[in-house]
Amino acid sequence: MKKVYLETYGCQMNVSDSERVATALGRDGFEVTADAAGADVVLINTCSVREKAEQKLYTQVGRIRHSEGPKPIVGVLGCVAQLEGETLLKKIPGVDFVVGTRAVGRVGSILNRTLDGESEIVDLGEREDEYDWTVADTHRHSPYVAFLPIIEGCNKFCTYCIVPFSRGRERSLPASDIIRHTLELKRRGVKEIHLIGQNVNSYRPETESGLEGFAGKSAFSRLLRAVAATGIERIKFTTSFPRDFHEDIVEAIETHENLCNWVHLPVQSGSNRVLKLMKRGHTIDRYIKQIDRMRASSRDIAITTDIIVGFPGETEADFRDTVELVKYCGFDSAYIFKYSPRPGTPAFEMDDTVSAAEKTLRFLELENTHKASQHKCLERYNEKVLKVLAEGISTRTENGISGHSTCHKVVNFVGDKAVLGSIVNVKITKVKANSMFGEVV
Ligand code: 5AD
Ligand code: SF4
Repeated sequence: MKKVYLETYGCQMNVSDSERVATALGRDGFEVTADAAGADVVLINTCSVREKAEQKLYTQVGRIRHSEGPKPIVGVLGCVAQLEGETLLKKIPGVDFVVGTRAVGRVGSILNRTLDGESEIVDLGEREDEYDWTVADTHRHSPYVAFLPIIEGCNKFCTYCIVPFSRGRERSLPASDIIRHTLELKRRGVKEIHLIGQNVNSYRPETESGLEGFAGKSAFSRLLRAVAATGIERIKFTTSFPRDFHEDIVEAIETHENLCNWVHLPVQSGSNRVLKLMKRGHTIDRYIKQIDRMRASSRDIAITTDIIVGFPGETEADFRDTVELVKYCGFDSAYIFKYSPRPGTPAFEMDDTVSAAEKTLRFLELENTHKASQHKCLERYNEKVLKVLAEGISTRTENGISGHSTCHKVVNFVGDKAVLGSIVNVKITKVKANSMFGEVV
């Protein structure tokens, strides 16, 4: 039995793609191993969103080439594969085949062809709208949690972003399929599903199938209500986009207990001028209204965001606006990135006016501002009882169990292994930036 090691970089779409690849490989008679050194095949699922992420591919292949012992077969998957195609074979010696995001459903057969002696296979999908919508079952990151892609690709073309080029135009899975998958996962003991996509709010299926009878101001809010009606214990969704994030989504969360109280709503900048340069299509006023609405909600919604510092043309005054926004919003969590120019995007053609040193200074200052406001924001969880899905063993404490709350916080507590897979009431006793501790009540 050939052993395959799968390394994954990037967002939850890539994690989900890898889970489906691993499920298919397992079905085809391969052994998916966590041991890179003993693998016959190494698959690298790549991300191209920032230069650093892309660099990991080169480092990893270099490491394999210079390691002792027999060399494994190396396959490159994901966003870098989709963008670069066969040039990767020339650019990186030691790569045996390349499979883009669109052709991810064919990794098993391409691997078999390679093992049969065919060399340098490149598959970037035959049609622009191709995608593998199957569901990962045997090889998920958790037996109790499942990622369910509902929309693939992006039509927004934010000027810094490579995703519309790597993952192509938006296409949505019909709601009837999403509901069928949800019911099947529920039957198999899954407690929490994540409806995922680059921009789930612009979910727009070609058919009404599965949405009939569900009210809502957008197809996405109707989908949320339809999935909630399946009775699955918990539903989370990510990523949201401010331009398409309508109040109706918050209302759906308020109406259905199983729609979780967590929204990831990337703002990217606190300056309207920079948002325009980024072609985000929303203003800070509108964003603040969305935040205020969620903060006022009875569901105590946790809000997380992404921010880029040092976008071309970002002045000190623009950056100050971002600092003020972060102070105002008090995010539960904020992922802050230094702008990274991506060849092929419109921003790549703009003058990269902010020096590397200045980017670092802005990054550090914003991190500190965020940490201070996050600290205040997270205090509200102290002494609160959260419903935690017990997902695994925590190595941080003896008899430790770890899981996520409905508001998507990592919560550790002492408990018996028998609770794994169930939802436990945990009273929070200690709050840290990335995790919490509590006691079962
Ligand atoms: N440079 C830096 N950060 C980026 N992101 C996307 N493109 C870039 C880029 N060129 C960030 C955005 C996005 C997150 C997934 O990655 O904040 O929300
Ligand atoms: Fe990276 Fe974007 Fe591809 Fe996800 S979709 S892996 S973030 S480039």
